[in-house]
Amino acid sequence: MSSLPDRPRFTFLGHSTVRCDLAGGEVLLIDPWVAGNPACPDGVKELERLDAMLITHGHDDHMADAVELAKRHRPKSVVATYEICAWLSDQGVENCQGMNLGGSQQVLDLRVTQVPALHTSSINDGNRMIYGGVASGFVVRLASGYSFYHAGDTALFSDMKLIADLHTPDLAFLPIGDLFTMDPAQAAMACGFLRVPEVIPIHWGTFPALSGTPEELRRELQAREVDCRVVDLSPGSTY
Ligand code: NI
Ligand code: MN
Repeated sequence: MSSLPDRPRFTFLGHSTVRCDLAGGEVLLIDPWVAGNPACPDGVKELERLDAMLITHGHDDHMADAVELAKRHRPKSVVATYEICAWLSDQGVENCQGMNLGGSQQVLDLRVTQVPALHTSSINDGNRMIYGGVASGFVVRLASGYSFYHAGDTALFSDMKLIADLHTPDLAFLPIGDLFTMDPAQAAMACGFLRVPEVIPIHWGTFPALSGTPEELRRELQAREVDCRVVDLSPGSTY
């Protein structure tokens, strides 16, 4: 296990939504889907503060609450692809910091890099579906050097090896549910490509169709002799 200097406290809000409490007290939310998220326990739905949001792509199960949370908490940064930020700005969201794949920027005290995901992206705008740019993931590096990767929704792709070469993440949040993303077998290969010591499975169990489980991921890692620990966070629990 790598040494873990000053890492955030991660609370899994269910599905793909991750709350990160930083050492300075700031709250970063990745993929804001809270109010209507059937996997999110009531006890963790209320945020007492929100300093920044990262949005991996435009699908409702990743940003349905972005506008409302931004208006209520007025975070310093709302980060997503250029197209999603343009749409959010149109909805009255302030402090949008649009970016695109390969780029990095400062968000609070963090260095945030947007990385590819193999998925689609569109925005549900009333009864229209509008173009959302490309889907993405994020690598977040703390001032302490600790870094983590949130893959968003993605298929397996071998350029995850580049994410390892460039960023050496200490932890990965990877989708395992199947149907819309990787299944546990692909996620196990992803852990090998990423060379991460720890993985937190996401995007599973919210609906019956998302059938992959952390236990299957564990088995697949063992079968492939990938040395990576599965941190099985149930929604509402903190790591
Ligand atoms: Ni999606
Ligand atoms: Mn999704």
